[in-house]
Amino acid sequence: MKSPFIDLSVHHQPKGFSDRIAFGFTKLLRWTADTFFAERYGHRAVVLETVAAVPGMVGATITHLACLRRICDDKGWIRTLMDEAENERMHLMTFIEISKPTWFERAVIIGVQWVFYLFFFALYLVSSKTAHRVVGYFEEEAVISYTHYLAEIDEGRSENVAAPEIAKRYWNLPDDATLRDVVLVVRADEAHHRDVNHGFANELAGLPTGAVAECPPHVALEPIWKKAS
Ligand SMILES: [Fe+2]
Ligand SMILES: [Fe+2]
Repeated sequence: MKSPFIDLSVHHQPKGFSDRIAFGFTKLLRWTADTFFAERYGHRAVVLETVAAVPGMVGATITHLACLRRICDDKGWIRTLMDEAENERMHLMTFIEISKPTWFERAVIIGVQWVFYLFFFALYLVSSKTAHRVVGYFEEEAVISYTHYLAEIDEGRSENVAAPEIAKRYWNLPDDATLRDVVLVVRADEAHHRDVNHGFANELAGLPTGAVAECPPHVALEPIWKKAS
């Protein structure tokens, strides 16, 4: 399988107070995740993807409400953010086939969701620019983590098992696809989210939006009524 090209060197240099807060907060969470998971990449992916799927839905909700109040067009932001949330949920549904969280991790997932949802909702209301910058930095870290996961597989510390069926269907991967192929498309998704969110933060800051890494093709999840017809 041809691996999707992504630029691993992309980093938004923090400019101003809001960017520095976003960057500092991301580095603090990175340190916490590194301490908690160490090299357990499968577990790390499952727990962190439950968090990664939150910001897109919060951003979509608040943008939707703002458009209703202001009676204005969303310029495609709502669907973009919902697609991000759904894509992150598919990452979760894929990695749950690879690693099952422990009972302690399940408790952490529940606790973190309460805190993170409320925190991110409040942050988005106060400064959507900072909120998108935070996600841009989270995604920079996600690209790094999945690059480490690839090295783990390539050096034989994690077994390169067959790709889960759900992943093959979602990204239309070949029958003989492996975990390595899955990590490659997931990492490319994260690079895409990174650029979209830094772009949104730039737009809100009045800066040029910059290039966006291509999103690997995946099937669109259809509403139930469409599937039935
Ligand atoms: Fe993800
Ligand atoms: Fe992500």
